[in-house]
Amino acid sequence: MPRRLPPAGVPLGGRVLLTALSKAVAANGTHERALRALESRLAVPHVSAVNTGRTALWVALRALHRLRPERNVVAIPAYTCFSVPAAVTRAGLQMHPVDIQPETLDFDYAHLESLPEKNLLCVVAGNLLGLVSDVPRIRQIAAAKGAFVVDDAAQAMGATLQGKPAGTMGDVGLYSLGRGKALPAVEGGILVTRDATIAEAIQAELAQLPPASWAHTAAVAAQMLAGALLLHPGLYWLPDSLPFLKLGVTEYQPDFPRARLCSISAALLAEMQPELERLNQIRRTNAQALCAALEGSSSFQLPQPLPGSEPVYLRLPVLAASEEIRRAALARLQAAGLGASGYYPSAVCDIPAAQMHWSVTQCHCPAAESLARRLITLPTHPLVTVRDREAMIRILREF
Ligand SMILES: Cc1ncc(COP(=O)(O)O)c(C=O)c1O
Repeated sequence: MPRRLPPAGVPLGGRVLLTALSKAVAANGTHERALRALESRLAVPHVSAVNTGRTALWVALRALHRLRPERNVVAIPAYTCFSVPAAVTRAGLQMHPVDIQPETLDFDYAHLESLPEKNLLCVVAGNLLGLVSDVPRIRQIAAAKGAFVVDDAAQAMGATLQGKPAGTMGDVGLYSLGRGKALPAVEGGILVTRDATIAEAIQAELAQLPPASWAHTAAVAAQMLAGALLLHPGLYWLPDSLPFLKLGVTEYQPDFPRARLCSISAALLAEMQPELERLNQIRRTNAQALCAALEGSSSFQLPQPLPGSEPVYLRLPVLAASEEIRRAALARLQAAGLGASGYYPSAVCDIPAAQMHWSVTQCHCPAAESLARRLITLPTHPLVTVRDREAMIRILREF
């Protein structure tokens, strides 16, 4: 079978797999140690872990709502992972999608400022693809409206703004340890806050979550082993051709399972944490080489990181000048097995099942809608070789 790159991922060696399995079985404080290591890495006093990033967001929203029960509207980026609106819905809150700027993938700040103050509980920063959102600016706008900020760094673990870690600049922050993230541990979500009152509200929500079952933990162990094998470019065609695995499929599903972090993911987190900087540096190097080669292209625009930020580039976002160019470029890149893909299939305001949970009757976010039709993402992970990069550049330069 021909070589096929996955769009994202981290190859796990045999040593990491064995150590993670043995630590998970021994269960001798690995979980606690992994969280304490995160506390010192991120310099935040309160860190906790759950089964997924969407559960982490759900916990964060419920905790904030506990503190301001009279407010029930959550401002979210109009182009983001569908888990974000799903968590808002599951928390029993309403969402207000806010348009984004295609040049930065961050909020359209004029739109954010125009949001009604009434009932606004919090603003969720997106940090899309590891490009850091301007959270200090979001904080100013939110504070003027009496709202909290959730720094959702599900896609940006290890990114920084003015030296501060993404995820730690809001009232509460979160990370995902899911497939394709900066530090993948099969699944997992991390919550962080500096605020003792919010930490207490988070603990009250966490107390209601069940521990991961043995059956689920065993399934996660199986996924870890299968993933380690099948991520290899010589074998990736296999999972990629099995539709029931739903690789790369984005769905709006508010009925997601909620639990504590299982011992396998906790052990993987402990094992992989020292690798985070190295992995992110590889992603940056690949992204920067691709950016340099595509600069000045009239067919593809490269969203720019915020000045003073160090992005993670979970994948490299490339914005095609038209839907036709995107379609043709993706077809060429995919035929060459180069791991290129679109991203979320639509803007949040175009998810029909979520519309009844909007806080507004009309919602139109033209930039997010256009982005959904024109965005291409290129892989930046450690399995991408210099030859892969050259092949991507050759294809894209033909447009
Ligand atoms: C911005 C954002 N928030 C939350 C989540 C939810 O994370 P998880 O997939 O671990 O549930 C994701 C997942 O991709 C995400 O991209």
